[in-house]
Amino acid sequence: MNSPARFPADFVWGASTAAYQIEGATTEDGRGPSVWDTFCAVPGNVRDGDSGEHAADHYHRYNEDLDLIADLGLASYRFSIAWPRIQPTGSGKPNQKGLDFYRRLVDGLAERGVRPMATLFHWDLPQELQDRGGWENRDTAERFAEYAEICYDALEIRDWLTINEPKTVVDCGYRFGSHAPGFKDDARAFVACHHLLLAHGLASRVLHERHPGRRIGPALNLHPTYPADDTPEAREAAHHQDGLENRLYLDPVFKGRYPEDTLRWISERGPMADHILDGDLGVISEPIDVLGVQYYTPVFVDGKGERVFRHERAQAEWLEIYPEGLHDILVRVQRDYPGVPMIITENGLATVDGIDADGRVRDQRRIAYLRDHLSATHRAMEAGAQVEAYHVWSLLDNFEWAEGYSQRFGIVYVDYATQQRTPKDSALWYRDVAKSGELR
Ligand code: NOJ
Repeated sequence: MNSPARFPADFVWGASTAAYQIEGATTEDGRGPSVWDTFCAVPGNVRDGDSGEHAADHYHRYNEDLDLIADLGLASYRFSIAWPRIQPTGSGKPNQKGLDFYRRLVDGLAERGVRPMATLFHWDLPQELQDRGGWENRDTAERFAEYAEICYDALEIRDWLTINEPKTVVDCGYRFGSHAPGFKDDARAFVACHHLLLAHGLASRVLHERHPGRRIGPALNLHPTYPADDTPEAREAAHHQDGLENRLYLDPVFKGRYPEDTLRWISERGPMADHILDGDLGVISEPIDVLGVQYYTPVFVDGKGERVFRHERAQAEWLEIYPEGLHDILVRVQRDYPGVPMIITENGLATVDGIDADGRVRDQRRIAYLRDHLSATHRAMEAGAQVEAYHVWSLLDNFEWAEGYSQRFGIVYVDYATQQRTPKDSALWYRDVAKSGELR
């Protein structure tokens, strides 16, 4: 019999959420509108016309949610700060009530012995900044650094994440149009990409200057990319795809340069390169202290560069279930971008969950998914990957962007009509793993 995989005693177990996906209360206490409020208001943009207006009502129920985190025995909670609560128009003096909410949240975590990890930008850009060009406007990166500084000074938090999944903003927000702000324009997308990375660098620099001893990094969704067959064409296509999925974000942050092949491809499509000013790459490569790794799916491509699915797909159809991909990407980052500890800031699965007559949610597929991905993480660590922590996506069922409430990623079930929370079987399983540090 295999002995159980045992994680190091100081390995940190946690869960993740994001403001727009759980908070609700979008017009309360001075919060300004964000691009996601605007996007959701356009019929056809989000499934069933859903929006984050009420979500899981976490803004009012955060104490109950903090109790859940504590009951599950988790040591870390990753949440995001809603920029439009802190600066309703994206610049200028802070909104005290917005800051107070996150102060109460951080205090509540401290009281329960849970450490906070805050994401500064999880996609809810203040609408007024969008009206002034959003991420295509270099000024948004400067505004972001100013907003970050307000948060750093107001909140007693050691670990920070700058931008959540810049690739998703670039691809879904600007290339495919499925997320706010809803554009389908490669030329604009990669200009936004550069400014998102610049924002990351500027905000990292500010933290280091003002609060040495704290830690910061980006939260990157990484997609191990594989040729779907053993032909030179597929290998070449996979390398190209790896540029767009991974190197476009990792190289500037770790090496201070954009990958040449990818930048060439981008330059055939638009003016990104014209927006890279002297000194920008120095800012973007401000040394980071942690790398947030988010893993959901691999990408297999054929010789024509088309994505091919090789394994079971989840309810979220873009998600191909392949735990080995997590192992591969952790080992690869350790090899190609060494020196920075990794924190898994998201990993999880949407399944079609329901409460049984006895009150239980039997989400066996999610348990198997989590077990396999934790086992892959453990193997990567044995192979030398420096991984400090794992955060499941997500603590709660929540607003899954363009899919609205139709996809449930939580380990805790949310009945949106009553806002009642029910820990799923996966939550109880995860509690035991966190407690024992062992995967059986
Ligand atoms: C990554 C995003 O950061 C998060 O907001 C989203 O809900 C999950 N992926 C699942 O799609």
